[in-house]
This record gives sequence, C-alpha cells and structure tokens, in this order.
Amino acid sequence: MFRWKKDKKKEEQLTIDERMKRVKQGEVPEHIAIIMDGNGRWAKKRALPRIAGHHEGMKTVRRTTKLANELGVKALTVYAFSTENWKRPKDEVDYLLRLPEEFLGTFLPELIEENVRVQIIGDQEKLPLHTVKAVSTALEKTKHNDGLVLNFALNYGSRAEILEGIKQVAKDIEEGSLEVGDLSEERFSSYLMTKGLKDPDLLIRTSGEIRLSNFMLWQLAYTEFYFTDVLWPDFDADHFIDALEVYQGRSRRFGGV
Ligand code: IPE
Ligand code: IPE
Ligand code: MG
Repeated sequence: MFRWKKDKKKEEQLTIDERMKRVKQGEVPEHIAIIMDGNGRWAKKRALPRIAGHHEGMKTVRRTTKLANELGVKALTVYAFSTENWKRPKDEVDYLLRLPEEFLGTFLPELIEENVRVQIIGDQEKLPLHTVKAVSTALEKTKHNDGLVLNFALNYGSRAEILEGIKQVAKDIEEGSLEVGDLSEERFSSYLMTKGLKDPDLLIRTSGEIRLSNFMLWQLAYTEFYFTDVLWPDFDADHFIDALEVYQGRSRRFGGV
C-alpha cells in the first residue's frame, strides 16, 4: 500500500528528523486514533506466543506517543482492548489486561516528564482491580499535564458507549435536566466517553484489516482513514510519518466543495 510514497522517500533519503520537520510545517492532525492490530501475527511469524507480540506492541505505543507529542499532536487514542476481546483465551486476556500496568510501570515517569496526560475510555467496571488501580494512578499523576493526551481505549466498544449515552439522555430528560429539543449533535457528544476530546482527524489501522471493529463509530464520522499492512509491533517512525504525509495530501471537504 502507498508504495509510491515509500519509493519517493528512498529517493530523497531523508532522515527521520528531516521528515518530522517537514511534516511539522504542514497541518498536523490534532487527534489521532489508532487501531493497533497485528500483534498476534507478528509473534506467529517468529514462532513466538501471541503475548510476545503484545509485549512488543507496547513498545510501539511508547514510540508513537513520543513522536506524536514531538509533532504537537494534541490527543492520541489507542485501541488497547475491545469489548469483543473477552472472547480470546483466558491467558491472553489476562496478559492484555496486565499490559497497561506494565506500560505505566515502565513509562509513567517519562510520560510525566514529557507533560503527557493519561486518560481512559471504556467500561472500567469489568476490568480487574489491578488494571483499574494502575490506570487511576496514572490519571491522577498526570491530571495537571497539558501536553499530549494519551487516551487508552480499554474494554471499549462503540455500540455500548452510544447505548450508554442514550440511556443517560433518557434519564436526564425524565429528570427534567434536558429538553428533547436541546439535544444536538454537540450535546450528544458530551454523553460519550470521549467527552472533551475533539473527534479524531486521522484513524490509523495496522495489519491490513479494513474494518472498524466497533471503534469510535460516532466520532469517526468525518475522520480520514489510513490503513497499512504493517503489523503493529513493526510500525516505526517512518511508517507513522508515512501516515501523516498521506493525511496531509488529503483534501478534507466535510461535505463542502
Ligand atoms: C492487536 O493485535 C492487539 C489487540 C487486539 C488487543 P491482535 O492480537 O489482534 O493481533 P492479530 O490480529 O491476531 O495478528
Ligand atoms: C481490534 O482488533 C481491537 C483492538 C485493536 C484492541 P481485533 O484484532 O480484536 O479486531 P478483529 O477481531 O480483527 O475485528
Ligand atoms: Mg487482530
């Protein structure tokens, strides 16, 4: 996919720093959402257990957060665990739900240093206590940071989110704190877990799958989509910049001309 871009890059032989500089001169997306996919296949290719792929993928989250922050991106939402991922073998689910702890245990000091603010979307009620604790600590310790928002979608499902929003709307109408006529798109957005976050400008999905898998269905209405065959653990700075360059080449019309 997008081979011509890669050839062009090779021809120009630009370093990462030079490419970053060039991207910064253009319009950088304010909010990037990523469906991090392909960890299992990455591991399989190396005859490793699937969890080895998840572990490697964690490093990509760190790398991407750093790059996004350096570019001045305001929010990065990463799909870490979906409401459908409970269908996986228990060992894998357990490992995936240990990862936020490991990630924050390793990188929280650096994130604090870099002025990153950690946030979370998803149904926390069904998460193990150790996961919730790790995330709450990170939320608390970074709440005054005003750099990049690193938003983890953990036990997140968009349909459940929308349904929950509708229930809350119904409740508020019943209690009289909301008038039916006052419910606008903007107002409804504030009933979603992404309240306060701008809708993503760019969605990246790795590993060659071309679907949303129940991710941010409302929020992605006018987002630019970028799909790449690269597996998430392999997704490096050049791949990230490739995505941004493609984004910068798009014409966003929002229904206009
Ligand atoms: C993405 O990698 C991580 C999560 C969904 C949590 P996968 O585990 O889905 O990797 P593949 O799709 O099996 O290769
Ligand atoms: C989507 O990936 C969920 C996350 C990245 C957390 P999946 O690998 O679970 O999605 P499907 O099953 O291929 O749609
Ligand atoms: Mg997958």
